[in-house]
Amino acid sequence: MTNNITFTMIKPDAVKSGNIGAILKMINEAGFTIKAMKFTKLSKEKAGEFYAVHKERPFYGELVEFMSSGPIVAAVLEKENAVADFRTLIGATNPEEAAPGTIRALYATNVGENAVHGSDSDENAQIESNFHFAGTELF
Ligand code: RTP
Ligand code: MG
Repeated sequence: MTNNITFTMIKPDAVKSGNIGAILKMINEAGFTIKAMKFTKLSKEKAGEFYAVHKERPFYGELVEFMSSGPIVAAVLEKENAVADFRTLIGATNPEEAAPGTIRALYATNVGENAVHGSDSDENAQIESNFHFAGTELF
Protein backbone atom coordinates (compact mmCIF):
# COMPACT_ATOMS: atom_id res chain seq x y z
CA MET A 1 0.00 0.00 0.00
CA THR A 2 1.45 3.38 -0.98
CA ASN A 3 1.23 6.34 1.38
CA ASN A 4 0.88 9.12 -1.16
CA ILE A 5 -2.88 9.71 -1.49
CA THR A 6 -5.63 10.92 0.80
CA PHE A 7 -9.30 11.68 0.29
CA THR A 8 -11.01 14.90 1.37
CA MET A 9 -14.41 16.54 1.32
CA ILE A 10 -15.07 20.24 1.78
CA LYS A 11 -18.20 19.86 3.91
CA PRO A 12 -21.54 21.67 3.44
CA ASP A 13 -20.79 24.36 6.07
CA ALA A 14 -17.59 25.51 4.32
CA VAL A 15 -19.27 25.41 0.90
CA LYS A 16 -22.16 27.54 2.24
CA SER A 17 -19.81 30.06 3.86
CA GLY A 18 -17.97 30.61 0.57
CA ASN A 19 -14.68 29.02 1.62
CA ILE A 20 -14.08 26.49 -1.17
CA GLY A 21 -11.46 28.71 -2.82
CA ALA A 22 -9.62 29.57 0.41
CA ILE A 23 -9.46 25.91 1.45
CA LEU A 24 -8.23 24.71 -1.96
CA LYS A 25 -5.54 27.41 -1.87
CA MET A 26 -4.31 26.14 1.51
CA ILE A 27 -4.31 22.57 0.20
CA ASN A 28 -2.22 23.51 -2.85
CA GLU A 29 0.14 25.71 -0.85
CA ALA A 30 0.77 22.83 1.57
CA GLY A 31 2.13 20.81 -1.36
CA PHE A 32 -0.83 18.60 -2.25
CA THR A 33 -1.77 18.11 -5.89
CA ILE A 34 -5.30 17.26 -7.00
CA LYS A 35 -5.74 13.84 -8.61
CA ALA A 36 -9.55 13.97 -8.80
CA MET A 37 -12.22 16.49 -7.82
CA LYS A 38 -16.00 16.99 -8.08
CA PHE A 39 -18.74 19.29 -6.79
CA THR A 40 -21.55 17.00 -5.71
CA LYS A 41 -24.16 16.29 -3.04
CA LEU A 42 -24.48 13.17 -0.90
CA SER A 43 -27.90 11.59 -0.44
CA LYS A 44 -28.73 10.63 3.16
CA GLU A 45 -28.15 7.03 2.19
CA LYS A 46 -24.70 7.74 0.71
CA ALA A 47 -23.67 9.93 3.68
CA GLY A 48 -24.75 7.13 6.04
CA GLU A 49 -22.75 4.60 4.06
CA PHE A 50 -19.65 6.83 3.96
CA TYR A 51 -19.66 7.31 7.75
CA ALA A 52 -20.98 3.79 8.58
CA VAL A 53 -18.04 3.24 10.94
CA HIS A 54 -19.72 5.79 13.28
CA LYS A 55 -23.18 4.12 13.16
CA GLU A 56 -23.28 3.41 16.89
CA ARG A 57 -22.02 6.85 17.94
CA PRO A 58 -24.52 9.37 19.43
CA PHE A 59 -23.72 11.96 16.74
CA TYR A 60 -24.31 9.64 13.75
CA GLY A 61 -27.83 10.90 12.91
CA GLU A 62 -26.73 14.52 13.09
CA LEU A 63 -23.63 13.75 11.01
CA VAL A 64 -25.67 12.10 8.25
CA GLU A 65 -28.18 14.99 8.23
CA PHE A 66 -25.38 17.55 8.03
CA MET A 67 -23.33 15.78 5.35
CA SER A 68 -26.40 15.46 3.11
CA SER A 69 -27.66 19.02 3.81
CA GLY A 70 -25.93 20.70 0.87
CA PRO A 71 -23.28 20.29 -1.81
CA ILE A 72 -19.70 19.28 -1.03
CA VAL A 73 -16.40 19.19 -2.89
CA ALA A 74 -14.89 15.69 -2.98
CA ALA A 75 -11.24 15.30 -3.96
CA VAL A 76 -8.34 12.88 -4.03
CA LEU A 77 -5.04 14.53 -3.09
CA GLU A 78 -1.49 13.41 -3.73
CA LYS A 79 1.62 14.09 -1.65
CA GLU A 80 4.27 12.05 0.10
CA ASN A 81 2.88 11.04 3.54
CA ALA A 82 -0.50 12.35 2.40
CA VAL A 83 -2.80 11.01 5.15
CA ALA A 84 -0.76 12.25 8.12
CA ASP A 85 0.26 15.53 6.52
CA PHE A 86 -3.34 16.31 5.58
CA ARG A 87 -4.57 15.56 9.11
CA THR A 88 -1.96 18.03 10.35
CA LEU A 89 -3.15 20.65 7.84
CA ILE A 90 -6.84 20.29 8.82
CA GLY A 91 -6.32 20.20 12.62
CA ALA A 92 -8.32 18.52 15.39
CA THR A 93 -11.95 17.42 14.89
CA ASN A 94 -13.12 20.09 17.36
CA PRO A 95 -12.10 23.50 16.01
CA GLU A 96 -11.68 24.77 19.57
CA GLU A 97 -8.82 22.26 19.89
CA ALA A 98 -7.44 22.72 16.35
CA ALA A 99 -3.97 24.28 16.12
CA PRO A 100 -3.91 27.93 14.99
CA GLY A 101 -3.66 28.30 11.22
CA THR A 102 -5.19 24.89 10.46
CA ILE A 103 -8.17 24.65 8.09
CA ARG A 104 -10.57 23.75 10.90
CA ALA A 105 -9.27 26.50 13.19
CA LEU A 106 -9.92 29.00 10.40
CA TYR A 107 -13.11 27.72 8.78
CA ALA A 108 -14.93 25.13 10.95
CA THR A 109 -18.19 26.07 12.66
CA ASN A 110 -18.15 23.54 15.54
CA VAL A 111 -17.19 19.90 16.29
CA GLY A 112 -19.96 18.54 14.04
CA GLU A 113 -19.80 21.11 11.24
CA ASN A 114 -16.06 21.17 10.85
CA ALA A 115 -15.38 22.30 7.27
CA VAL A 116 -13.37 19.35 5.95
CA HIS A 117 -12.95 15.60 6.04
CA GLY A 118 -9.59 13.86 5.87
CA SER A 119 -8.94 10.10 5.60
CA ASP A 120 -7.51 8.47 8.73
CA SER A 121 -5.41 5.70 7.10
CA ASP A 122 -3.92 4.72 3.74
CA GLU A 123 -6.43 1.89 3.51
CA ASN A 124 -9.39 4.21 4.12
CA ALA A 125 -7.99 6.78 1.66
CA GLN A 126 -8.19 4.11 -1.04
CA ILE A 127 -11.68 2.94 0.01
CA GLU A 128 -12.99 6.54 0.16
CA SER A 129 -11.43 7.44 -3.20
CA ASN A 130 -13.16 4.41 -4.75
CA PHE A 131 -16.44 5.39 -3.05
CA HIS A 132 -16.53 8.71 -4.95
CA PHE A 133 -14.45 8.23 -8.10
CA ALA A 134 -14.03 5.75 -10.93
CA GLY A 135 -10.45 4.93 -11.94
CA THR A 136 -10.93 6.95 -15.15
CA GLU A 137 -11.64 10.12 -13.09
CA LEU A 138 -8.18 10.08 -11.43
CA PHE A 139 -5.30 11.94 -13.10
P1 RTP B 1 -13.57 13.29 9.46
O1 RTP B 1 -13.69 11.77 9.49
O2 RTP B 1 -14.80 13.97 8.94
O3 RTP B 1 -12.32 13.73 8.77
O4 RTP B 1 -13.39 13.80 10.96
P2 RTP B 1 -12.43 13.24 12.09
O5 RTP B 1 -11.69 12.04 11.59
O6 RTP B 1 -11.63 14.38 12.59
O7 RTP B 1 -13.46 12.82 13.21
P3 RTP B 1 -14.29 11.46 13.37
O8 RTP B 1 -14.11 10.98 14.76
O9 RTP B 1 -13.98 10.52 12.24
O10 RTP B 1 -15.79 11.98 13.24
C1 RTP B 1 -16.38 12.14 11.97
C2 RTP B 1 -17.20 13.40 11.95
O11 RTP B 1 -18.33 13.26 12.80
C3 RTP B 1 -18.67 14.54 13.32
N1 RTP B 1 -18.59 14.51 14.79
N2 RTP B 1 -19.46 15.10 15.55
N3 RTP B 1 -20.89 16.07 17.78
C4 RTP B 1 -19.78 15.39 17.98
O12 RTP B 1 -19.33 15.17 19.07
C5 RTP B 1 -19.06 14.89 16.81
N4 RTP B 1 -17.96 14.17 16.84
C6 RTP B 1 -17.65 13.93 15.53
C7 RTP B 1 -17.69 15.53 12.77
O13 RTP B 1 -18.22 16.09 11.56
C8 RTP B 1 -16.50 14.64 12.47
O14 RTP B 1 -15.65 15.26 11.54
MG1 MG C 1 -12.64 10.42 10.63
